[in-house]
Amino acid sequence: MNELKLLCLCGSLRKASLNRKLMKQAAACFDGRVEVGDLRLPLYDGDLEDAVGLPEAVAHLVEQIREADAVLIACPEYNKAPPGVLKNALDWISRAEGHVLQGKPVAIVSATAGRAGGERTQSVLRLMLQPLRGEVLTHPEVLVGSASKEFDETGALLSERYQKAVAALMARLTEAARVRVRRDAA
Ligand SMILES: Cc1cc2nc3c(=O)[nH]c(=O)nc-3n(C[C@H](O)[C@H](O)[C@H](O)COP(=O)(O)O)c2cc1C
Repeated sequence: MNELKLLCLCGSLRKASLNRKLMKQAAACFDGRVEVGDLRLPLYDGDLEDAVGLPEAVAHLVEQIREADAVLIACPEYNKAPPGVLKNALDWISRAEGHVLQGKPVAIVSATAGRAGGERTQSVLRLMLQPLRGEVLTHPEVLVGSASKEFDETGALLSERYQKAVAALMARLTEAARVRVRRDAA
């Protein structure tokens, strides 16, 4: 079987993002090649779409998703919901030809200042993903609460509990991607 491809998306744009650290740690547990998508996209605007179709950055992201065997989303919690950056990206992605996420295994992780680790933002993100038809993994949940205390200076998770949850989630994502690739090849 060819090497699997993982596409990672992070809902936080800031350099020191804790979700990006978590995303990188999770990606390192995936058995395959890793790419990161750039969510610095123009705001969705129907007039822009009428004028140019999918803007270049969106078209590139859509292509990355088409080529990926699995997708990992690191989802911050802003006021108990995913950030607009992520919603905007999903709205653009939904405008591409066909359902680009259809049947692709998707894993979600989150890191938050609050103690619940993003339980609510993950619930909302799962609803947001339904129309895009990805196969979102339900467990194990990776919810890193009080996250500013949970990473060392290299960006690695300190606690064994979280390390194990991340590794288990990514093992399931790898396996789901393998199953899908085998099914598509049959
Ligand atoms: C607009 C905004 C809203 C936020 N709302 C929440 C929230 O509802 N729950 C929470 O735990 N943290 C909340 N936070 C704090 C974030 O969890 C924290 O800033 C986190 O580090 C952001 O993710 P990042 O480090 O990946 O950028 C909020 C932060 C911002 C900027």
